[in-house]
Amino acid sequence: MARVDLTPRPEDLDPIETASADELRALQLDRLRWTLRHAYENVPFYRRTFEAAGVHPDDCRSLADLTRFPYTTKQDLRDNYPYGMFAVPRDRVARIHASSGTTGRPTVVGYTRRDLDTWSGVMARSIRAAGGRPGHRVHVAYGYGLFTGGLGAHYGAERLGCTVIPVSGGMTERQVRLIADFEPDVIMATPSYLLTILDEIERQGLDPRSTSLKVGILGAEPWTEDMRREVESRLDMHAVDLYGLSEVIGPGVGQECVETKDGLHVWEDHFYPEVIDPSSERPLPDGETGELVFTSLTKEAMPIVRYRTRDLTRLLPGTARPMRRMERVTGRSDDMMILRGVNVFPTQIEELILRVPGLAPHYQCVLDRPGRLDELTVRVEARSGAAGDSPGRTLEELIKNTVGVSARVEVVPPTVLERSIGKARRIVDNRPR
Ligand code: DLL
Repeated sequence: MARVDLTPRPEDLDPIETASADELRALQLDRLRWTLRHAYENVPFYRRTFEAAGVHPDDCRSLADLTRFPYTTKQDLRDNYPYGMFAVPRDRVARIHASSGTTGRPTVVGYTRRDLDTWSGVMARSIRAAGGRPGHRVHVAYGYGLFTGGLGAHYGAERLGCTVIPVSGGMTERQVRLIADFEPDVIMATPSYLLTILDEIERQGLDPRSTSLKVGILGAEPWTEDMRREVESRLDMHAVDLYGLSEVIGPGVGQECVETKDGLHVWEDHFYPEVIDPSSERPLPDGETGELVFTSLTKEAMPIVRYRTRDLTRLLPGTARPMRRMERVTGRSDDMMILRGVNVFPTQIEELILRVPGLAPHYQCVLDRPGRLDELTVRVEARSGAAGDSPGRTLEELIKNTVGVSARVEVVPPTVLERSIGKARRIVDNRPR
């Protein structure tokens, strides 16, 4: 499918997507004051932390006053496992989701019926911004279950008036057959899983450029501009970025518009973004890079106040929509590797891999500590048909010259590395605890 123009018509947008900055700010302030009161009155955790910080919801008279309120962290959610952060009686909670909990207790999030309605609304808006239209067939390859990806995408696509194909993640051969037979217009998957599907399309001898797909809505993990180019040219479709996190609602917090592809518009009528310096915890002005922090503005079951996402990005002015954009998240502070004092994110490695012709973007960063210092080995697959070890040396030099660290590169044959069906595991940490 050729890359067709999918710019939505202005009359199809939600009214708030074209509202003035003043209208938006007024709505945000109203909703923020409601959220702070709701959290304070119904969640003992917030009452305690607000009181300890010497603030009361009535102290919030302008949006800037939010900076007087304390932050909430993932640890706070863990400490209140499972239901301690809920602000409504148990029988008003219509659904529960949870994070996988691979790094500790899972975090549990809850939704009222109205929250589910809000979520479908912002996801429908995201899919439309990405180029989806009523009547489009949407292949959902995000996992269904406690993970928010599958069901979030599902109800958003239904709300927009699409035909949903709820495939979930996994069984990659079947994914390819369903794409060929059901002819979806839109595919929703993690970028790493889409790449696995793409390889499988080729393995089955089909031409990826001739599928029915017009757009891929990719998110749930960091990816790069180079990966966008790879996916767009191999599949001849648009690839746009979708951001979200369960603590804030799930997917649908921010979405890149297909007509500009210049970062993600944050749906600011429901999620208020800030960027802070992660070490001093001071708010940073728009344009400066730091840790993204969110306050929900309409959530009932689990209002969240100044949640520290650990995702690194910056806020930019609106373009395709008046709401602010966040730059593509290139990494989270948890994924930062520190080698001889240099900070390195897996996405920096990905960018370089995609510049070396013989290498495929299937890779892992392996950390070891044989002596006193950490060492990085990049395990990366050769593209099928490529031979020799010169791509590995080229990558080693690129890493040395652009990132400024020495890494060993181990080029492995195609399909050797573990394929994820959801979020890819980019870092394998073998260092002693
Ligand atoms: O990953 C929700 C989601 C599902 C988003 C489907 C997009 C598509 P969690 O499992 O709670 O929720 O993980 C949230 O994933 O804090 C980021 O670190 C990362 N993340 C999500 N979207 C992106 C993205 C879902 N577009 C965590 N780019 C977040 C980079 C992303 N990282």
